[in-house]
Amino acid sequence: MFTTVVLAAQSGVCILGYRDEYRQWQQDPEAFWMQAAEAIDWIKKPGRALDDRAAPLYQWYSDGVMNTCYNALDRHVEAGRGAQIAIIHDSPITGAKAKISYADMLERVSIFAGALASRGVGKGDRVLIYMPMVPEALVAMLACARLGAVHSVVFGGFAANELAVRIDDATPKAVIAASCGIEPGRVVAYKPLLDEAIEIAAHKPGFCVILQREQLAAELGERDSEWQAFMKGAAPAPCTPVGGADPLYVLYTSGTTGQPKGVVRPNGGHAVALHWTMKNIYNVEPGEVFWAASDVGWVVGHSYICYGPLIYGATAVLFEGKPVGTPDAGTFWRVIEEHKVVSMFTAPTAFRAIKRLDPTGEFVKKYDLSSLKALFLAGERADSDTILWAEAQLGVPVIDHWWQTETGYSIAAIPMGLEALPVKLGSPGLPMPGFEVHALGEDGREVPAGEMGAIALKLPLPPGTLSGLWQAEERYRSAYLETFPGYYETGDAGMIDEDGYLYIMARTDDVINVAGHRLSTGAMEEVLSSHPDVAECAVIGVADALKGQLPLGFLCLTAGVERDPADVVAECVALVREKIGPVAAFKLATVVERLPKTRSGKVLRGTMAKIADGMAWKLPATIDDPVILDEITAALREMGFCDD
Ligand code: COA
Ligand code: AMP
Repeated sequence: MFTTVVLAAQSGVCILGYRDEYRQWQQDPEAFWMQAAEAIDWIKKPGRALDDRAAPLYQWYSDGVMNTCYNALDRHVEAGRGAQIAIIHDSPITGAKAKISYADMLERVSIFAGALASRGVGKGDRVLIYMPMVPEALVAMLACARLGAVHSVVFGGFAANELAVRIDDATPKAVIAASCGIEPGRVVAYKPLLDEAIEIAAHKPGFCVILQREQLAAELGERDSEWQAFMKGAAPAPCTPVGGADPLYVLYTSGTTGQPKGVVRPNGGHAVALHWTMKNIYNVEPGEVFWAASDVGWVVGHSYICYGPLIYGATAVLFEGKPVGTPDAGTFWRVIEEHKVVSMFTAPTAFRAIKRLDPTGEFVKKYDLSSLKALFLAGERADSDTILWAEAQLGVPVIDHWWQTETGYSIAAIPMGLEALPVKLGSPGLPMPGFEVHALGEDGREVPAGEMGAIALKLPLPPGTLSGLWQAEERYRSAYLETFPGYYETGDAGMIDEDGYLYIMARTDDVINVAGHRLSTGAMEEVLSSHPDVAECAVIGVADALKGQLPLGFLCLTAGVERDPADVVAECVALVREKIGPVAAFKLATVVERLPKTRSGKVLRGTMAKIADGMAWKLPATIDDPVILDEITAALREMGFCDD
């Protein structure tokens, strides 16, 4: 069924097809990853790829020495490619556009790193970054990488409380932030949120650097330095050598509880793996334009707005705006045409938003999209309608691929640069080299092809995946390694068909996926329970035509509370926005008499989700429809879950 060897006619180089590449990895993973490591510049080459001395905790290239920033910037400039564009900033929401060359980026990053170093930031220190989609966000990330400091980027849609939790966990020496972010119709003042977070947090960062944006200047306090003033007189910093297994960044992601998990990404394996993906999966050449329409606050932004394209020597688009409304449903097509984007990556929800406004593709027709070779989707399940619509409009392969913050790049995909394998609708493709994917039953045994199981990855995970959770080894072991010894538990449920294609159907935990954003219903429940009138609650994910899923809250009021339930609901909605942030998109809640439970008292969230999903077609994309809530409540009543 699959082609095995394709000859690259121009270069005369023999390129292996998917099956051969995967087999090569299976037969000798050590040789495979040592070979892949050749694409990276090492200060001291690693003597081995895998370090399994502490198994089941693994490290990659632990005796190698390198610097990620050097690989992303310096080496391209030294190779004479300094004039090539590294970053295209395109911000339709502010009207700003800029092209930054590799040489220019190197200068900015070295000086900013020098300024950080002069304030005592060095190898191993943590730096928290809270910034919107501006070039300075990438400057800050790369400056940390240059110094061997560990950055932790927090998405702008999180509220002060979430920021505080991350400050306390990462204990950063410094915070780098912008005065504001821009959302359609409103300016989001970041600085007051940061000040409040530092107020709430037990750990106090030594200093903050604030980028003043023209849309809203922030008031600076004693702890703060303005970005330009901070850099004044700073000497450019050289690259600090770091060990291959030293951490590059910590990125927090949602788990079952309100305490987010700090995913630790080591330097060496990350650089090797991302470099491998740029050609083999995304089919990009150095110098071509790659666009991941995501946010630097998410893993996709880390891997494919910043590190992957730069390490590979491509040009990355940094887009600040929305797929619709900034200014219209043609924004994505305008960006592709204007910057000659070769390969694009976004979440299906972005395409659903465009499709809703432009079902017949009138905007698509206005633009020349001939540069585009493929569209990649990830972050949530891609529905067939969206894939077919995108294929019809763009006339290029639409590739669903599956990954997680923890893995940092795709576990399963159609590797377009290796071999344009057939796409199966509903499947994110085949396992990539490095990943042995299994669907396991409760007994830990492989389920037959086509049957649902818990999706688990055979250990060790490949280079570039997480080395653990930040200062939480026990949590790492219990959350990922204990259910199926010898495997990493992904938290996803799905199946593998007879051709080896994977299908990801649902989560096995309390994580939901809203507009491609991974959120914890447990975290929302913790906030709702803190409302004085709420005795008990449950939050589930319900299907939504635009965002994929939306959180829906069920509230049981404390005995004796006589208030209008609508008031309590409104307060709860406001509370989640205040404590977690607007990104939680929590707008839908209803008061019930009691929650459906098992005899042992476990809330039957699955049953509730089924009831709600049964009426999902009725849910409007913008919620706030009390009729729907009444209907869901009535359905629960009918099933005996609520007293009349
Ligand atoms: N800073 C502050 N607030 C933010 C924010 C940020 N960086 N990002 C989102 N928000 C706010 C939004 O303004 C919205 O607020 P509202 O309730 O006042 O309207 C809320 O958080 C929910 O955001 P979202 O769920 O993203 O909805 P949206 O209507 O703003 O946009 C999409 C919907 C589909 C257009 C958008 O989510 C999108 O483009 N997603 C695809 C790309 C992506 O980011 N994928 C993630 C990983 S690949
Ligand atoms: P995140 O860590 O935010 O990238 O979210 C990872 C989770 O998103 C995965 O564990 C899946 O539940 C879901 N996900 C990501 N990509 C896909 C995909 N292509 N198909 C189905 N679910 C996906």
